[in-house]
Amino acid sequence: MDKFVINGGKKLTGDVKISGAKNAILPIMTAALLAKGKSIFHNVPHLNDIKMMAHVLRVLGARVEYENETLSIDTTYADYYEAPYELVSKMRASIYVLGPLLARCGKARVSFPGGCAIGTRPVDLHLKVMEALGAKIEIEHGYINATCENLKGAKIRFEKVSVGATANAIMAAVLASGITNLYNVAKEPEIGSLIDCLILMGAKIKGKDTSHLKITGVKELQPIETEMMPDRIEAGTFLIAGAITGSRISISNCVPEHIQSLSDRLIQTGCKLNIGKRKVEIIPPSKILPVNIVTYPYPDFPTDLQAQFMALMTLSEGESRIEDTIFPDRLMHVAELNRLDADISLEKHVAVVSGVNSLSGAMVMATDLRASAALVLAGLAAEGETTISRIYHIDRGYDKIEVKLQKLGADIVRIKG
Ligand code: UD1
Repeated sequence: MDKFVINGGKKLTGDVKISGAKNAILPIMTAALLAKGKSIFHNVPHLNDIKMMAHVLRVLGARVEYENETLSIDTTYADYYEAPYELVSKMRASIYVLGPLLARCGKARVSFPGGCAIGTRPVDLHLKVMEALGAKIEIEHGYINATCENLKGAKIRFEKVSVGATANAIMAAVLASGITNLYNVAKEPEIGSLIDCLILMGAKIKGKDTSHLKITGVKELQPIETEMMPDRIEAGTFLIAGAITGSRISISNCVPEHIQSLSDRLIQTGCKLNIGKRKVEIIPPSKILPVNIVTYPYPDFPTDLQAQFMALMTLSEGESRIEDTIFPDRLMHVAELNRLDADISLEKHVAVVSGVNSLSGAMVMATDLRASAALVLAGLAAEGETTISRIYHIDRGYDKIEVKLQKLGADIVRIKG
């Protein structure tokens, strides 16, 4: 397994180009199953999660090719309908095939995704939606077996905002007969991006960026060629890299509105931000002020930036409180940050971060994708050498993060396992 070795304390400088958004691309890849033929997607980063989804689609019979950040998915012969345990257990997002397979094949057999390092993550909402659209669901030997004659439009109110269940519902409803009204849906930009793609494919969807979607089913959809939106979580991670290392850097090819909640908090810490159309420059303060955060669905503060923001708060001048209402147990990074001499204690699900003057390098272990990013950020700021093991987690969601950081002047190297 690869490791990162970071010699911290270096100032960063320059600009980093943000890659395409993993969490937008994953559902859009499965949406390609809704049309027969070849769809082409540009601005697709090299990420293990995307390779894994390509693998899932190949198992279903699709032809998937990837070159120079362009991904092509030919679904002409994608007639198989089982996503097996070996793949789904490695990547939860494989559940995104459920809606498209039901819409395309009238049946789907998808392994039940297990828990993961950030806590139990049920799929009950995904299943309820499919049932509401007319599918029959049976759980057998760890598999979800879903069948339907025809999906039929329905009125569905989500009891909880779920990005994944919203995406699955939309993908099933676009080919269902009649009208589907979805209430209390997720408004994350990645959902907006999925809706844009589906509309380009010929779907009829109204209410993008609101919590009510009205979908009028169509008979068929067409393959498309389109560009993927930038990754707001990668963008946020690099802005925090500037703040935590006291460096003036900029990020480009981003959508500043998508990271508004982070920008607001960074300004509260004393950072200045120069916000352009597709670019943000961060000017760090001499002292980082403490800021509390509580994660909620978009447009509030994202759970996927909670760990990275906590890394920043370890060096603030005072005490901050951090709570994740989306995944309350997503706190594995606390113990690892404390190994770097941070001072974080847990009061049930709230992390109480007492800022320290400096962090010091140590050996730490990446536990999940965003926790790994938090450790990289802390390592960049820490005095001395930090070694981060199990960085395969970070390769799931950041395209060559060490290369991008090296270009900014960081002393970080990958040691091949
Ligand atoms: C997606 C993102 C993930 C992000 C999360 C929240 C992808 C591939 N992943 O995950 O990076 O952290 O949104 O922004 O896009 N829940 C249920 N039942 C369900 C589904 C969800 O109770 O059937 C709960 C979850 O446990 C969680 C909350 O709903 O507490 C929100 O989860 P959800 O938005 O569904 O997360 P994912 O789509 O899995």
